[in-house]
Amino acid sequence: MDRTFVMVKPDGYARGLVGRIVARFEEKGFKLVDAKVMQLSRELAEHHYEHLRSKVFFDELVDFIVSGPVFAMIWEGKDAIKNARALIGATNPSDAPAGTIRGDYAVDVASNIIHGSDSDESAEREIKLFFR
Ligand code: PPS
Repeated sequence: MDRTFVMVKPDGYARGLVGRIVARFEEKGFKLVDAKVMQLSRELAEHHYEHLRSKVFFDELVDFIVSGPVFAMIWEGKDAIKNARALIGATNPSDAPAGTIRGDYAVDVASNIIHGSDSDESAEREIKLFFR
């Protein structure tokens, strides 16, 4: 069994989507290992998105992720990283089909309600960063 890191972003939290998102992961067959509501510091946010520092949207992304509480989770399951990303849908909600979380609940790439680790390395790094 693998583990992955998933985070409901401030827009998803503010819209009251945490329960529905947790239910989708449970219905798919994932096991919830740990979860908590957090207010991210700018330092943690910049560390989390360090690999995107050169992107034009970096400051906007950091401002957004510290703008309100997030719901951080560790999920366990078979091929957890790949299966969680499939459940979440494409980064740009316009490209995410109905039936995926972003496809059903978001329209804007800058506020796409949820984050999921994209590799074994990032899952390990993000779990350590958020649940140390
Ligand atoms: S990927 O595959 O999710 O890593 O996609 P990527 O395109 O690399 O995007 C990484 C994160 O950057 C966010 N993003 C943006 N934020 C604000 N504005 C724009 N234009 C934008 N484009 C991408 C995207 O939501 C990803 O956030 P996370 O939290 O990693 O899902």
